[in-house]
Amino acid sequence: MGRLFPFSVASISDNTGRPPHSDIHEPPSLRIESNLITSPRTELGLQHNGAENCITCNDVGLNGVFLTWKDLWVTVADGENGRRAILQGLTGYAQPGELLAIMGPSGCGKSTLLDALAGRLGSNTRQSGEILVNGSKQRLTFGTSAYVTQDDTLMTTLTVREAVYYSAQLQLPDSMSRSEKKERAEMTIREMGLQDAMNTRIGGWSVKGLSGGQKRRVSICIEILTRPRLLFMDEPTSGLDSAASYHVMSRIVKLARHDGINVIASIHQPSSEVFEVFHNLCLLSSGKTVYFGSASMAKEFFDSNGFPCPALRNPSDHYLRTINKDFDSDTEQGHGGTTSTEEAINTLIKSYKSSETCQQVQSRVYEICQLKGGLLEKKGSQASFITQCLVLTRRSSVNMYRDLGYYWLRLAIYIALCLCVGTIFYDIGSSYGSIQVTQQGWTNPFMSYKLY
Ligand SMILES: Nc1ncnc2c1ncn2[C@@H]1O[C@H](COP(=O)(O)OP(=O)(O)OP(=O)(O)O)[C@@H](O)[C@H]1O
Ligand SMILES: [Mg+2]
Repeated sequence: MGRLFPFSVASISDNTGRPPHSDIHEPPSLRIESNLITSPRTELGLQHNGAENCITCNDVGLNGVFLTWKDLWVTVADGENGRRAILQGLTGYAQPGELLAIMGPSGCGKSTLLDALAGRLGSNTRQSGEILVNGSKQRLTFGTSAYVTQDDTLMTTLTVREAVYYSAQLQLPDSMSRSEKKERAEMTIREMGLQDAMNTRIGGWSVKGLSGGQKRRVSICIEILTRPRLLFMDEPTSGLDSAASYHVMSRIVKLARHDGINVIASIHQPSSEVFEVFHNLCLLSSGKTVYFGSASMAKEFFDSNGFPCPALRNPSDHYLRTINKDFDSDTEQGHGGTTSTEEAINTLIKSYKSSETCQQVQSRVYEICQLKGGLLEKKGSQASFITQCLVLTRRSSVNMYRDLGYYWLRLAIYIALCLCVGTIFYDIGSSYGSIQVTQQGWTNPFMSYKLY
């Protein structure tokens, strides 16, 4: 009998009477070679040496940064009950010129994984496992990697052009001329489709400026200016419509291919077009890997485990619906023998662990670990100390001049205060009694407080 999952939309009948994923013990035959053969690495000119998956040190020599993580656990203190695991034994890799998308329901650990890989975990977390950069244990240096955080932290008083240009001046080397920096800043703004908002102030809680989606794109602009070798992005498309998401992501992928950037991004709800630009997919549920491998092969993985994507449905929607258990009790279940989301997730996790894809990922990680590539040079900002001081002073002055709270509000308060004090002592006279009143006034705690 056909079964309904998820949410009574997919009717699956295999005419055998067996449950659709009763054959989960047979590992699905998923291969990732096809991805490697057609990967943008070839377009980047990164050559494999001999065997298809063998990576040579030349790959690393081309400034590419390979990132691998093995059995990665992240835990946080959980009251008196000990520790709670946020990430549970994740293994994976990310390669130059490719985009790895991290997907999963809200709270599954996407940002935590990005933070762990970027070395930005909070002090109340504990991490175990191995994270290697180019096959060796090393810190990601400033200038090598960039991180677009989930929340935008922008100066609200600056226009888009100013924000990106100041950032270009602060990050790009002094060997680049001013006009080149300006050109790079404007080109990046245009790449993110912000040409119409170039002179609009970013805006904040007090003054409305850019929309949320536009702010997101400004944050991306600022981080991709220097063309970092490793780019982490936490929800780069949140607040964007599907067309804008597609354009932003496809431009990032183009940039990744062109400059050999290794991009790792967490994404909430990609449209089917956006999903198609992903090279690899890491699907998480409650901190566990449901699937890691080629994004295009995820469909086959779900199909072979009894959760086929219904026709005309966005595959990423289907994957997320299948593994989101947050609303399980409210979910409309089908009749007779429906699978709970918890069971579905366990089935997929078990199946992934025993799949050929998982073994291929592990051997790929092993191969990358054998690289023992060069150490990342300590770069820091490429602008000189003097340039940084000058640019920061100018930016700060513009910010203070435009921010009402900095000068203008204070000026208004001081004028009002002067008037108050002035009226208290106005025309008080110069007799002995008047002097006494004046002295008492100045020593009054309220007045002293007001004036100091
Ligand atoms: N430093 C921390 N201390 C305590 N709990 C934490 C900490 N960091 C993350 N968590 C918890 O770990 C879980 C995963 O958080 P995380 O921010 O990684 O989720 P997410 O997948 O990025 O979610 P979203 O899609 O909503 O951004 C959440 O339940 C969160 O409360
Ligand atoms: Mg997050």
